Amino acid sequence: MKTIAIIYHSAHGHTEHIARHVLEGARRVPGIRAELVLADDLARSPDALLGYDGFLLGSPTYLGGVSGPFKRFMDATGGLWKTQQLKNKLAAGFTVSSLPAGDKQSTLLSMFVFAMQHGMVWVGNPILPEQHSGVPYNEAANRLGSWSGLMAQAGHGAAADAFVPGDTKTAQMFGRHFAETLQRLGSAAAAPVAEVVVA
Ligand SMILES: Cc1cc2nc3c(=O)[nH]c(=O)nc-3n(C[C@H](O)[C@H](O)[C@H](O)COP(=O)(O)O)c2cc1C
Repeated sequence: MKTIAIIYHSAHGHTEHIARHVLEGARRVPGIRAELVLADDLARSPDALLGYDGFLLGSPTYLGGVSGPFKRFMDATGGLWKTQQLKNKLAAGFTVSSLPAGDKQSTLLSMFVFAMQHGMVWVGNPILPEQHSGVPYNEAANRLGSWSGLMAQAGHGAAADAFVPGDTKTAQMFGRHFAETLQRLGSAAAAPVAEVVVA
């Protein structure tokens, strides 16, 4: 059994709504145990990360970056960084914001750099935008065209579940892809990398 933590912060419920769809997708893969974990809780006890094989990182985009509570979680992992105990675990990122672009890419990049500093293995969002093959824009998977991670958009002041069907569908596909990747690479990724000796 491989384990996934979907680590998120959500002040108004949008990121949590997407996290629940990511969870649904991940749980469709046999042999995977996935659960939601609050970034706030991990900020208090970061060693809990050691119990998982993979992390799906989720934050709203605030001023072009992760939210303060999510950054507090990231910063609480400094001790684990020092000892590289999270090395070779799988990671991926998702973010929600109110504008179509909204600088979401910048949020995903900060998650990516966080994962790289820990020596993790980054998993993207390899879904072709379905509007190119005739699916109506709001129903299309990866309609926002993000491959480095998952992006979703909810209008300013909208209800927590006010996402177009394309975004919730993409969230499920993203969670499933991550879980399938963990299933395929999980043991290999966790194994120590052999040292290359150059004669
Ligand atoms: C302090 C703050 C900064 C924000 N910055 C951005 C931004 O840079 N780009 C954007 O599109 N939306 C921005 N938003 C809107 C949020 O990303 C959006 O409301 C999101 O859905 C909130 O997610 P949540 O409900 O999970 O908290 C910002 C909101 C707040 C409160």
